[in-house]
Amino acid sequence: EVIEANGQVLLPGFVDLHTHLREPGREDTETIDTGSAAAALGGYTAVFAMANTDPVADNAVIVDHVWRRGQEVGLVDVHPVGAVTVGLKGEKLAELGTMANSQARVKVFSDDGLCVADPLLMRRALEYSTALDVVIAQHAEEPRLTVGAQAHEGERAARLGYTGWPAAAEESIVARDCLLALHANARLHVCHVSTSGTADVLRWAKDRGTKVSAEVTPHHLLLTDERLATYDPVNKVNPPLRTESDAEKLRAALAEGVIDCVATDHAPHAVQDKDTEWTAARPGMLGLQTALSIVTETMVRTGLLDWRGVARVLSERPAEIGNLADQGRPIAVGEPANLALVDPDAEWTVRGAELASIAANTPYEGMRLPGVVTATLLRGRTTARDGKIC
Ligand code: NCD
Ligand code: ZN
Ligand code: ZN
Ligand code: ZN
Repeated sequence: EVIEANGQVLLPGFVDLHTHLREPGREDTETIDTGSAAAALGGYTAVFAMANTDPVADNAVIVDHVWRRGQEVGLVDVHPVGAVTVGLKGEKLAELGTMANSQARVKVFSDDGLCVADPLLMRRALEYSTALDVVIAQHAEEPRLTVGAQAHEGERAARLGYTGWPAAAEESIVARDCLLALHANARLHVCHVSTSGTADVLRWAKDRGTKVSAEVTPHHLLLTDERLATYDPVNKVNPPLRTESDAEKLRAALAEGVIDCVATDHAPHAVQDKDTEWTAARPGMLGLQTALSIVTETMVRTGLLDWRGVARVLSERPAEIGNLADQGRPIAVGEPANLALVDPDAEWTVRGAELASIAANTPYEGMRLPGVVTATLLRGRTTARDGKIC
């Protein structure tokens, strides 16, 4: 098979450290099958499937099921994330070692959707992770500071009568966990960084030798709390959309490398959970099929990253952080390659109903975006081509 690639950019296949695939438990919104298709169409060759499923992925039976199902579908490597604590309740450590040594070989542990609020438990999780050589990915929010919070703390939340969500809820726990990670000599990964202050904390922690990495989502690079003006719950997400000044500093921190990579936090939700009043709506938005375009818009068109830099933030760094030896690397001759081919000048219009996900909760509905993934190859086999699954 010959793929015509004139004028296009050939990148290593993208790696997403933060995907919610909803299987088991919420197969009405996404399955490993449909989520893998969305990933392949978005240029991804590996995704890390978050642990907040139902039942929670806190044991070897669940993580092995997710891993095997991903292999059966065969469109993208699905690496299950194990829960740090049993049932995501944050009271008792899960059997991290059993999951790390299971068939799924779990490399990343997280309590995303919840935070390990107890500092002693977090310290023990980090110490355990050092012994296992795995990564703890922290949801990065002090839950006791966001009780009842509905929107970024500021003028707009106040005007709409919503309880504010302070930047300090994120920054204080990221600082705490950086200190604990340094103490335990552990690798900490910070999920969905949303404030400029968190970038400052990360810079400070990295300067003193902490093994900390961090991700930013496409939506926190592009969207701001100005979106709240319409009350549309499609814009409700955890952590909340922040200010233009936050978004600007997140883009700069990503370009500088203080924030290591882009992760989608792809969060499918059912119509009834989104098409309701703001306070009742669930937080989260789709991301797998739009990530490359949002990175093109916010980072490439602004001159903040060249395509080499895009390869770094969408593929190389996430593969390194997630311990994937076979992803995110330049192609060696004779080796089956993981690749994404991108037309940087083409544009497309986002339609939630046309995305491969079962859910349709995209905040980019009707937007015309630059950057089209024209082909994705997993170990030398074409998984997606011109917007269709192969
Ligand atoms: C995520 C989800 O729906 O599972 N929601 C979200 O708003 N990001 C959980 C999470 O990442 O915190
Ligand atoms: Zn989260
Ligand atoms: Zn998440
Ligand atoms: Zn759909």
